Amino acid sequence: MLGIEASCDETGVGVVRGTDLLADAVASSVDQHVRFGGVVPEVASRAHLEAMVPMLDKAQADAGVSIDDVDAIAVTCGPGLTGALLVGIAAAKALALAHDKPLYGINHLVAHVAVDQLEHGPLPEPTAALLVSGGHTSLLLVRDITCDVQMIGETIDDAAGEAFDKVARLLGLPYPGGPHIDRVAAAGDRSAIAFPRGLTSPRDLAKHRYDFSFSGLKSAVARHVEHEQRMGRDMDVADVAASFQDAVCDVLTAKTVAACEAYGVEHLVIGGGVAANGRLRQLAEQRAAHAGIEVRVPRADLCTDNGAMVAALGAELVRRGRAASSLDLPADSSMPVTRIVA
Ligand code: KG4
Ligand code: ZN
Repeated sequence: MLGIEASCDETGVGVVRGTDLLADAVASSVDQHVRFGGVVPEVASRAHLEAMVPMLDKAQADAGVSIDDVDAIAVTCGPGLTGALLVGIAAAKALALAHDKPLYGINHLVAHVAVDQLEHGPLPEPTAALLVSGGHTSLLLVRDITCDVQMIGETIDDAAGEAFDKVARLLGLPYPGGPHIDRVAAAGDRSAIAFPRGLTSPRDLAKHRYDFSFSGLKSAVARHVEHEQRMGRDMDVADVAASFQDAVCDVLTAKTVAACEAYGVEHLVIGGGVAANGRLRQLAEQRAAHAGIEVRVPRADLCTDNGAMVAALGAELVRRGRAASSLDLPADSSMPVTRIVA
């Protein structure tokens, strides 16, 4: 299975055989977005156009296969940036048509879960999945990865990674800020500042039990920074970073573990760029172990956007005999998670 990913700022082409990873070629346009402090859709689309053929060539060379050896093509058709998705879909359609291969248009979020099979083997079902990146913060219930995935919670404002990036900017750290906050926080005191935990009051929980909100937290950090400056004090960046990071990870893990318990799920996959966060992993493992839940986190390069995750889900769809997509497959920027294959 050859998988193509182009929904945000990574152009990925992966090749898998069942749950074996054969190649994972990724080109990122993140450097081109740095000076804007976030992903610029038009810049991302152009970068996909430039990187697509080189990544297709690299993946085939790395895997030691040619397109003729491939049984089917899978491509992300949503959710994501429309202009970016279109580049990947056009490439996948061209290959499928020219080489007479079945085409699977797949859901990016579900692929973030399926990728774990490449590292830890067959995914137990049901499983919960917490997907945290610059673009998404979703809590999924996966009963069958090819036909039964439910969204049980999501962010109502910023994505978790977006919150890390915005707060990093407030603290004068480079973009993307997550890894910098993670590093700086190691020397800080996470109980130094009591930042708010979004959507955890009894009233909010009644309506948003498993949803997340990070915009109030970001504003609280901004107010703290302004206050310190006004007072002419030297802000302790490490303490702010550690306290902010703890507020994010506390809510993410508390709600996720509560959801696992409520739905009777004993397995949890964590994916997306923020899954690399040290405090998130530590808290998730502690709280999950306490609740008797097994946590699986794919290695860092499989957590971030890549083509192998698309191929992994495509291979699972074929294995379970799901129907392929049609060649007039559209891009769906807000594809719901209940739609696994288009
Ligand atoms: O999955 P990903 O590479 O792609 C997109 O969202 O497109 O995730 C990137 C996000 C960024 O917001 C980045 O700041 C965050 O993941 N991130 C982290 C860490 N490493 C990356 N956030 C917190 N701690 C980290 N160690
Ligand atoms: Zn993603």
